[in-house]
Amino acid sequence: MTLTTRSLGTTGPQVSALGLGCMGMSALYGEADRAESIATVHAALEAGVTLLDTGDFYAMGHNELLVGEALRTAPAARREQALVSVKFGALRDPDGGWSGYDGRPAAVKNFAAYSLQRLGVDHIDVYRIARLDPDVPIEETVGAIAELVEKGHVRHIGLSEVGAGTIRRAAATAPISDLQIEYSLISRGIEDEILPVTRELGIGITAYGVLSRGLISGHFTRDRRLAADDFRAHSPRFQGENLEHNLNLVEALRKVAERKGVTVAQTAIAWVLSRGEDIVPLVGARTRERLAEALGALDVTLDEADLAAVEEAVPPGAAAGERYAPAQLAQTGR
Ligand SMILES: NC(=O)c1ccc[n+]([C@@H]2O[C@H](COP(=O)([O-])OP(=O)(O)OC[C@H]3O[C@@H](n4cnc5c(N)ncnc54)[C@H](OP(=O)(O)O)[C@@H]3O)[C@@H](O)[C@H]2O)c1
Repeated sequence: MTLTTRSLGTTGPQVSALGLGCMGMSALYGEADRAESIATVHAALEAGVTLLDTGDFYAMGHNELLVGEALRTAPAARREQALVSVKFGALRDPDGGWSGYDGRPAAVKNFAAYSLQRLGVDHIDVYRIARLDPDVPIEETVGAIAELVEKGHVRHIGLSEVGAGTIRRAAATAPISDLQIEYSLISRGIEDEILPVTRELGIGITAYGVLSRGLISGHFTRDRRLAADDFRAHSPRFQGENLEHNLNLVEALRKVAERKGVTVAQTAIAWVLSRGEDIVPLVGARTRERLAEALGALDVTLDEADLAAVEEAVPPGAAAGERYAPAQLAQTGR
């Protein structure tokens, strides 16, 4: 396995070509094992992964505390190479509910102060609001992060799930390193409008949901029981006939993967890697076994014939169901 690096846009840092998304270690995908989660972060750092992604609202600080512990207990050389990307802004309640987003400058600074403390770091490498606050112009939110950059609390400014107009306004306010957004074989919505804009402006992409939250990993089964607070229990693509249809796509992809002697997950990750040097997939591995599989994608080269076979198995727009329920989709501003 060769861990190459990619740049997060023209103004952002060099990072490993695959990042580790830590969300599932605390929230949204059912039970996770804390010790295994930390071992997974350590294994990733050991393998040369330098980008760790978290959010302050992933189980109300739990994920930041976990990432902080993993960093503290990692060998110093590995810890020093690690870059932490943090999302903020989502408002939670004690019952785990979600109550909108807060992008006011005072709130941005407040969120950052708590994140620095929980992570146990003296700066955040990439800081971004998770969704646009509809009541606060993006210029104000990005401007507040730019002040944190000036003071040395943050190194780079990112964006998350915003549309082309917001990307342009943000980039006119301050340098933007990357846009974090869903991109996978079955979520290709960014290709028409968003990718051309990020490429024009020299903004990188950190792609999440590359395995569509496990749906196209090759490991998800029809009979999997999901807890009520599992994101997938409410995600349109995981319901009834949609799930049946989508898992049939996975079986078509499995045939292509098997012909190449690799796994379905590796094929799906390699496809995203093949879309451009400006794209860094974040994989949501939360065990060392899944991490090892994901890292194996870096050694998979998809040639023209392979890419054609992959796209024949899973053509653009082939998925049944939207990637989010309607209310959540509306928050993405696309
Ligand atoms: N900006 C945003 O709006 C946004 C939204 C969502 C996520 N994110 C970030 O992006 C990261 C990645 O997103 P995601 O977790 O939804 O992505 P993902 O990689 O598409 O999905 C992770 C799921 O795939 C399953 N999986 C199966 N095989 C795997 C393998 N070899 N490697 C990794 N996972 C495998 C895991 O299942 P098991 O563990 O059950 O086996 C896990 O449930 C998150 O951790 C978070 O940091 C950002």
